[in-house]
Amino acid sequence: MAEQAILSYLETHEEIADSGNFAAECGIDHAEIVNAIKSLHGFLYVESQDIKKETWVLTDEGKRYAAEGSPEVQLFLAVPAEGSIAKDELQKKFDPAIFKIGCSQAGKNKWVEMGRQVSRKVVQVEDKVKDLLLKIQKGQVCSFITCSADKCLKTWKGYSVRKGPSYAPQREKFATDLTRENLQSGDWKKLKFKEYNFNAKGPPSECGHLHPLNKMKDCIKRIFRMMGFEEMPTNRYVESSFWNFDALFQPQQHPARDSHDTFFLKTPSTTMQLPEDYVERVKQVHESGGYGSRGYNYEWKREEANKNLLRTHTTAISSRMLYKLAQDTKQNGFTPKKYFSIDRVFRNEAVDRTHLAEFHQIEGLICDRGLTLGHLIGVLEDFFKRLGMSNLRFKPAYNPYTEPSMEIFSYHEGFGKWVEIGNSGMFRPEMLQPMGFPEDVRVIAWGLSLERPTMILYGIDNIRDLFGHRVDLDLIKKSPLCLIGIK
Ligand code: PHE
Repeated sequence: MAEQAILSYLETHEEIADSGNFAAECGIDHAEIVNAIKSLHGFLYVESQDIKKETWVLTDEGKRYAAEGSPEVQLFLAVPAEGSIAKDELQKKFDPAIFKIGCSQAGKNKWVEMGRQVSRKVVQVEDKVKDLLLKIQKGQVCSFITCSADKCLKTWKGYSVRKGPSYAPQREKFATDLTRENLQSGDWKKLKFKEYNFNAKGPPSECGHLHPLNKMKDCIKRIFRMMGFEEMPTNRYVESSFWNFDALFQPQQHPARDSHDTFFLKTPSTTMQLPEDYVERVKQVHESGGYGSRGYNYEWKREEANKNLLRTHTTAISSRMLYKLAQDTKQNGFTPKKYFSIDRVFRNEAVDRTHLAEFHQIEGLICDRGLTLGHLIGVLEDFFKRLGMSNLRFKPAYNPYTEPSMEIFSYHEGFGKWVEIGNSGMFRPEMLQPMGFPEDVRVIAWGLSLERPTMILYGIDNIRDLFGHRVDLDLIKKSPLCLIGIK
């Protein structure tokens, strides 16, 4: 209706000078007219130009005076025409703000005599303030008013409209679909079809959305698979201290095994079973060494190894898998393996913007004969290059289960500095030999958090905005695809 009103008007008139007045004349809502103008403009039926008008609107205070009169007139009228009224009594008739303004203005205008008694000095007064307010209310702009408050000023937007290059008195309807009926009746020859708009955005899909961590996880899994790695089964958050620490040659006094760093389980507090002969070899290597090692020289306690905990790293899974592989080697001979995992780990950490008590670890390992530190560096360079990080540096580090060990750094262009992105090393003979591997079998391994690269990639600077109960669902809905490894 709005659309037809505009087109018909322009058939006989040069211009619609003001969409606001036009809307009022047609009795159509201005917003509807504006929508029609925009749509007609899009199809070049009309040309339009913006009009902006600033209008004054009354505040609540202004509205009140427009209805009830200005405070000074209200006050004047409350003073008797003859005689006087006590000031106290007069005050009771008004609320304090009105009384104050009323007294001051009526005094200034010399309308009343103010003392303990108040009396009129003139017979009659004119309410100019009220008249002015009423004019403003009716939209008769008073340009001489100065008002300091922005809240009195309202901007109105409208258009002036003329015929456009494709003007026609009636809007042509474009067909959006070619139907069976169109074809059968021959209509298709006459029909005008709507052009495709390849720039239009599709409606947002109302489906589930993957969390950025899941997107990242999928991409990294793909990279591992492309590199020929198999995924390790990580479906156990509860682990025994044995697989999490002892099997990894981590001494029982190590500070990480303290309840300040590790969550221990109350029930069940201990593990049900461990491979006894292997436990015996682990005990030996801790206490007195072997395989060329001196060991740690302390009394190894089974109770400590039995304690259940929430795994502090996925290397607990690596130790289980390697033990299995070593058993398989005894029966069927050695097969080289490339394993990876990406799953949750737990640490008793103070939570802050970069730390959570639970996070995800990415872990990779290669088990083969004759591997060297050179292989580890080469594999890391290949792996991280696929993650988009080609500029790596390695720094000597210490882990109880690897020797040598290296921290991995990458130059972050955005931050303009080297950031630590992972930890790595070659598993020690004290870990591999008790498992039963042949002497020349080496394992190179590395680990990193999933959160770190995800935060860098998605530009999130507080880990609590990425993971946990404070995460904004919109972040999940709107986060872009993870393009890592797709180049
Ligand atoms: N487990 C180590 C960590 O939690 C990572 C790592 C894995 C280091 C494998 C070396 C070898 O940080």
